[in-house]
Amino acid sequence: MINVLFAARSERWDTYEAPLRAAFAKARLDVDLRTEFAPEEVDYIVYAPNSEVQDFTPYTRCKAVLNLWAGVEAITGNETLTQPLARMVDPGLTNGMVEWVTGHTLRHHLGMDRHITGQTGEWVVTTPPLARERRVTILGIGALGASCAHALTGLGFPVTGWSRSPKDVSGITCLHGDDGLKQALETADILILLLPDTPATQNVINAEALSRMPKGAFIINPGRGPLIDDDALIAALDSGQIAHATLDVFRVEPLPADHPFWAHPKVTVTPHIAAETRPETASEVIAENIQRGEAGQPFLNLVDRARGY
Ligand SMILES: NC(=O)c1ccc[n+]([C@@H]2O[C@H](COP(=O)([O-])OP(=O)(O)OC[C@H]3O[C@@H](n4cnc5c(N)ncnc54)[C@H](OP(=O)(O)O)[C@@H]3O)[C@@H](O)[C@H]2O)c1
Repeated sequence: MINVLFAARSERWDTYEAPLRAAFAKARLDVDLRTEFAPEEVDYIVYAPNSEVQDFTPYTRCKAVLNLWAGVEAITGNETLTQPLARMVDPGLTNGMVEWVTGHTLRHHLGMDRHITGQTGEWVVTTPPLARERRVTILGIGALGASCAHALTGLGFPVTGWSRSPKDVSGITCLHGDDGLKQALETADILILLLPDTPATQNVINAEALSRMPKGAFIINPGRGPLIDDDALIAALDSGQIAHATLDVFRVEPLPADHPFWAHPKVTVTPHIAAETRPETASEVIAENIQRGEAGQPFLNLVDRARGY
């Protein structure tokens, strides 16, 4: 019997219990799944960073902590966590992110706001460029960024991706390093941020980076709030350097009611809804990782604590 502690917030139990049990049965895992165990009896912890479990010291036989979220910045600094930590790479979450990113990219590319908010009674005909004439840059071409890049190249957008390590992704111009970032920004008619929040990525979009982008560019941030220097972005929006920013994530969430982003005419705020973990598909990922752990195989999607993602 494998003891699995569900340690995400209690209100998530109703959503996850049935899909997890179904996924364990499908994977032929003999699991005792509960929300409470004596810590020394737990083999795996299904986790979320806002869980009440913050001290992992008593979980002496735990083989892995399996996070339900893709972002791990709130856990990587926890020194009591010495067990392997897997982040969530969920096909359902990835689909959601691809749809959200594609939708907001097309909104800006096609200038949809002109007609959605501009029903003035005036018949003004404008023709947007084709996707092939609009360059998209994605910072972060991991699980989410690469999937978004494929969807956007499928629509005809020329896509440049930037990552920490050199990459070779078919159909995408891949860049890395400081010089690569400069080049990636210079061709970013639409800039999409899908980097994790680490000390190395914070404020990557600062005043200098914004000044490198083509005038009138768009920014879409479903990554993490600290990637952007908020004041520098507001200055770039006010000067017209950046035409619009669609922001899903913020330094403080919920975004405080008095934050200037709410009232700014060139900012769209969405409440961290770009991509949710989907219980059915995520449960299968968790079952697969437990299966691997039991078979002595390496876990999938392990977090490198030194890199911070
Ligand atoms: N808004 C939402 O609803 C939502 C939902 C899910 C996730 N997210 C965010 O999306 C982020 C990305 O998720 P993911 O699953 O795609 O992560 P991932 O697979 O780990 O990919 C991260 C990418 O960022 C690159 N990167 C990391 N540090 C870098 C640096 N210092 N310089 C340049 N590139 C760097 C990585 O480069 P390498 O390929 O070289 O490692 C990789 O390409 C998550 O961390 C989370 O913050 C948001």
